Amino acid sequence: MPNAVPTAAMKLLVTGGAGFIGSHLVDALIDAGHEVAVIDDLSTGSQANLNPQADFHRIDITDYDATRAVFARVKPHVVCHLAAQTSVRLSMSDPIRDATVNILGSINVLRACVEHESARIVFASTCAVYAGAKYLPMDEGHPVLPESAYGASKHAVEGYIRMFAHANGLKYKILRYGNVFGPRQNPEGEAGVISIFTRQFVEGIQPTIFGDGSKTRDYVYVADIVRGNVLAIGEAGDNETYNLAGGTEITDLQVFEAVGKAIGSEVEPRYAPVRPGEVERSSLDYARAKANLGWSPEVSLEDGIREVVAHYRETH
Ligand SMILES: NC(=O)c1ccc[n+]([C@@H]2O[C@H](COP(=O)([O-])OP(=O)(O)OC[C@H]3O[C@@H](n4cnc5c(N)ncnc54)[C@H](O)[C@@H]3O)[C@@H](O)[C@H]2O)c1
Repeated sequence: MPNAVPTAAMKLLVTGGAGFIGSHLVDALIDAGHEVAVIDDLSTGSQANLNPQADFHRIDITDYDATRAVFARVKPHVVCHLAAQTSVRLSMSDPIRDATVNILGSINVLRACVEHESARIVFASTCAVYAGAKYLPMDEGHPVLPESAYGASKHAVEGYIRMFAHANGLKYKILRYGNVFGPRQNPEGEAGVISIFTRQFVEGIQPTIFGDGSKTRDYVYVADIVRGNVLAIGEAGDNETYNLAGGTEITDLQVFEAVGKAIGSEVEPRYAPVRPGEVERSSLDYARAKANLGWSPEVSLEDGIREVVAHYRETH
């Protein structure tokens, strides 16, 4: 039975609400008439992305006293937990930092949920928990064998969520996102290849493809991820893990060509050796999200890329 999108105004807390995905989620929730509070330490997020109608608390989730004080004030019905250390590379060079934010910070959020009687937590997990595919598309029953500290820390949090649900009756949805892309994704650093290619094309830098261009990823547009979160806020399909993804393999070369086409460039890519630790192929099966939440991706790669390019041009 597909979930009805919650219509009544609720008190919602979004951790990581000043980040790329979180800020779009906050916009959608405010547009839907909910009262939205945000916790973010602005380590990678930006106040410029943050909806001015959100009740913003600049705090670090590794600080339990500060976190629980926000919960005490807001008393959120549902918590969308997106705050995280999101760099795979940093997770490998500093796994302690990664675990401190992603595991200990998440335990703080879970403790505060229980202490202040939030009904439900919706967690932003990742396809990085699966890593190398044994079969494609990977469903939620695919073996979990993370190849990065980031994937391992996200998977550890999934375990804590199930444990807190069992011990305290907290309801949850674990959402494993594919490769999310869209406006506001930071093209500096680790961000998705679509925003990196966009910046490089616009600035006249020849984009680099690592490997021969045949490596695949499963891309999903940020508005689809936001809709998945909005559906997950409701009751249907509780206490379950869901892949949210496009469901198809897209090669690096396809992405390169789609961004080039949207920009109107005929520049050829530069090829460089594949970077260590990169998985060869990835795509996720979202049948469970479709059956239980009524979710499937709606925005095509081409349409999403057009939005990214338009946004980049507007803001640069
Ligand atoms: N972008 C993707 O492709 C993707 C894929 C799978 C999962 N995810 C998950 O989605 C969530 C959002 O990712 P994003 O791509 O928007 O990244 P992002 O870096 O833009 O967002 C993370 C937000 O968390 C905040 N934050 C970090 N550490 C914090 C702390 N200690 N206390 C409070 N706030 C803190 C950051 O300032 C930032 O605003 C993350 O949990 C990420 O793991 C993202």
